[in-house]
Amino acid sequence: MKIFIDSGDVGEIREAQAMGAIDGVTTNPSLLAKAGKPTNEVIAEICEIVDGPISAEVIATDTDGILREGRELVKIHPNVVIKVPLIAEGIKAVKTFTDEGIKTNATLCFSAPQALLAAKAGATYVSPFVGRLDDIGVDGMELIEQIVTIYDNYDFETEVLTASVRNTTHFIRAALMGSHVATVPFKVIKQLLEHPLTDKGLAQFLEDAKKIPKS
Ligand code: G3P
Repeated sequence: MKIFIDSGDVGEIREAQAMGAIDGVTTNPSLLAKAGKPTNEVIAEICEIVDGPISAEVIATDTDGILREGRELVKIHPNVVIKVPLIAEGIKAVKTFTDEGIKTNATLCFSAPQALLAAKAGATYVSPFVGRLDDIGVDGMELIEQIVTIYDNYDFETEVLTASVRNTTHFIRAALMGSHVATVPFKVIKQLLEHPLTDKGLAQFLEDAKKIPKS
């Protein structure tokens, strides 16, 4: 499973990149608002740090506006993927972007039928938001299972990008289900490495190392 970092913070993206942990980056307007800089500047900076797909989201909600914004965003760097909301106007834009060879990430996916339509329009990625489904009392990971099965049944090339990942359980379940990608906040990327027995074992080794005679 590929790991993307879900962030607009170039500091943490640089740190995750140094860990060798990430294959790409996803952003959204809420994450970029925290960066306090224009979107094109932040996306350009991220593209210099990570050599992989970098999702940048459009703000327009009409097809023409989405196409206009997306065509500008792809000029920033060839790795830019246009993130488009899964609404009727958005899906039309996904179809046109696909015909033009522009990669897309169909976002705000909360149901299997939405994911099926995204795949039919040729989306490169579909982003089901598992954490936000959990928030309303629905098991978000069940949606991942459904989409992976549907895409397998019909050999769709669209990759399932598990998003709104809030914990290591989401991450490992996504990997077990065959999600192609999980986009993970930096906090959770660090948690993936944590285990109390690792800390305990290391503390013991360091303590015992003091007893080794010096040469
Ligand atoms: O980038 C989309 C998604 O990962 C957002 O996650 O935690 O805001 O639901 P969250």
